[in-house]
Amino acid sequence: MDADTGLEQEHPRREQDAPDLGSNIILIGAMGSGKSTVGWLAAKLLGYGFFDLDATIELEQKKSVHMIFEEKGESLFRDLERSTLKRFSGLRNHVVALGGGTVSDDDTWETILSMGTIVWLNPPSDEIARRLAANLEQLKARPLLAELANHQDLETRHKLLSERIAALTGNRVGRYKQAHCVISDRFSTPDSTARLLLDTLIKEGVLKISVEQKPFDKWQIL
Ligand code: S3P
Repeated sequence: MDADTGLEQEHPRREQDAPDLGSNIILIGAMGSGKSTVGWLAAKLLGYGFFDLDATIELEQKKSVHMIFEEKGESLFRDLERSTLKRFSGLRNHVVALGGGTVSDDDTWETILSMGTIVWLNPPSDEIARRLAANLEQLKARPLLAELANHQDLETRHKLLSERIAALTGNRVGRYKQAHCVISDRFSTPDSTARLLLDTLIKEGVLKISVEQKPFDKWQIL
């Protein structure tokens, strides 16, 4: 265990298990599972770049995801996800946060597979629902959940959100399960999850740290 970072070091490289992939870490998982927050923190710890697909689409379209859904519909949003990710598929040394439904399109999935090590952030749907039910701003920003913000009662919102998230996850779980690693803890803080993520990648033989170098300065994807 490294005293400064709290992360374990020097796990043996597992040649056979380590995926032979591009040098990015790709976060997939349900809405509200923490992909953007945890991804940004993990990138900072690693000294990697951070790429957020939703944020990039919003920047390029000069519209929120919510507006894009409203004006153009879900299928055009999926087209944008596909074409945008394709354009950025040459990224290296980035943590990439995708949207919850980015995995559902077959072509986009091929692009995802080509970009790096895929990690499924998979906190219990009940926990995601509890977080989103309490945060109306976050809830309204997500077009596939936004109408649930009309329910005034927190418990009702929580119950309906749990059901909706479980249903959406059910449709996508076949793809989520193909991730190289899964992080399923009850997330205490984004920071601890980011550290758990990196620790898991070290254990899985995906990341290694050189002991001669300052921790986090020179992480490498194997
Ligand atoms: C979606 C998830 C959202 C966003 C859009 C659709 C989905 O991203 O891409 O609202 O289909 O699950 P987050 O997973 O970051 O909320």
